[in-house]
Amino acid sequence: MSVIEVRDVQTVFGTKVIHDGLNLSINEGEIYGLLGPSGCGKTTLLREMVMLQDFSHGSIDILGHNVSNIKERDAQKLRREWGVLFQFGALFSSLSIRDNIALPLVEYTDLNASMIEEIVQFKINLVGLKSSDADLFPSQISGGMKKKAGLARALCMDPKLLFLDEPTSGLDPISAREFDELILKLRSLLGLTIVMVSHDLQSIYDTLDRVAIIDEKKIAYEGTIVDVKSSKSQFVQTFFK
Ligand SMILES: Nc1ncnc2c1ncn2[C@@H]1O[C@H](COP(=O)(O)OP(=O)(O)O)[C@@H](O)[C@H]1O
Ligand SMILES: [Mg+2]
Repeated sequence: MSVIEVRDVQTVFGTKVIHDGLNLSINEGEIYGLLGPSGCGKTTLLREMVMLQDFSHGSIDILGHNVSNIKERDAQKLRREWGVLFQFGALFSSLSIRDNIALPLVEYTDLNASMIEEIVQFKINLVGLKSSDADLFPSQISGGMKKKAGLARALCMDPKLLFLDEPTSGLDPISAREFDELILKLRSLLGLTIVMVSHDLQSIYDTLDRVAIIDEKKIAYEGTIVDVKSSKSQFVQTFFK
């Protein structure tokens, strides 16, 4: 069953055409990659999916809702169905890891402090941080730990969908592989559908079920990594070398 349908999406910024008719479909439970050269519009497409960016033409359906003509009340509900970890989605430096993770709960729910603490502790352990890490501040933890804390915040509201923008970029190889394993674990544990922008070839091979490769404003390839080998597109072939 598809949970996200992108149909004929065009995106124009000023006079610059970024997407010229994108079509793709993301199935429930898969880890789906958005790939392509820098500047091809991967982050923009991700932002369009999560209703942070308007597009010029076409439609995006997500969990059965057309995001272009959704009512504000439904939009508010829908936003709670996903978590997002942006590439530069930094943690607030003035807040402890605990308070960073708790932020969506404080903002969107009326849970009391002890319930929130219980959920925060659960999420901290889920992403492989230690309970005592909750007291630390972002400046006191490594890049890999920051990504995990960001992930814990994205998972705070028990979303069905998770959007990740280049989650392993800037991490050392060991932390990057650890993050990949965490993604795989969370998918099977929580039954998440995950949409991930990536540049990291190892991560692409290890985690993605299917990919869409954007090139020249269009989808140059959609399918499994295994089938990439039989793609006739020169661009797609060189992308994987
Ligand atoms: N809000 C915006 N206004 C104008 N141009 C934008 C905006 N957002 C992105 N762009 C441009 O759209 C193109 C695609 O950007 P982006 O989606 O960030 O690419 P990618 O994530 O694939 O590297 C870039 O040329 C970028 O400068
Ligand atoms: Mg980007």
